[in-house]
Amino acid sequence: AMELNPVLLPLSWLLGTWASNEPGEGTYPSIKPFRYTEKLHFSHVGQPVINFMFNAFHAESNKPLHRECGFIRVQQGTNRVAFVIAQNSGLVEIEEGELTGNQLKLQTQSLGRISFAKEPHVQQICRVLQLRPDGKLEQTVSMATDNQSLTQHLHITYSRSC
Ligand code: HEM
Repeated sequence: AMELNPVLLPLSWLLGTWASNEPGEGTYPSIKPFRYTEKLHFSHVGQPVINFMFNAFHAESNKPLHRECGFIRVQQGTNRVAFVIAQNSGLVEIEEGELTGNQLKLQTQSLGRISFAKEPHVQQICRVLQLRPDGKLEQTVSMATDNQSLTQHLHITYSRSC
């Protein structure tokens, strides 16, 4: 295997494949609550960059739903982390934030969307990714839209898988 770029050492706990161990919970004031499963894949090719893919499915029908992929960069010598993200809904996004221990806290830094993106438009995303002491990975996503201030949309935990 390719040697890990030392810049990525603080984030090495993310690398590999993760699958939701029990369905995640999707909520928002304007929608019907739903359950979903999700697989995450984080890899590297020796660059100071992590490549990632998140693929989510409806928990009952297994129908593919939300998908995102992108790149993670770390500002060398700091705990500053940036995610460059493309979402299947037509959203592109830069999220930045800080790594504290095994917790990554990110917020939208800039946002773009296709001209015919579905409304309401997302205006802000906050994301927390953390490795828990029990070895599970946990993700919480909150968002603000045209109609709603920052409110939780997603909560899910994952176990390592192959
Ligand atoms: C609804 C954004 C991730 C499933 C929505 C809405 C927005 C949104 C703006 C419409 C809210 C409204 O009508 O007021 C996002 C963003 C995500 C994300 C920015 C990632 C950062 C996910 C994931 C799933 C998911 C991972 C998992 C399957 C749904 C469902 C709905 C919804 C089922 C309700 C039906 C619909 O409007 O399609 N999301 N979402 N979303 N989202 Fe997400």
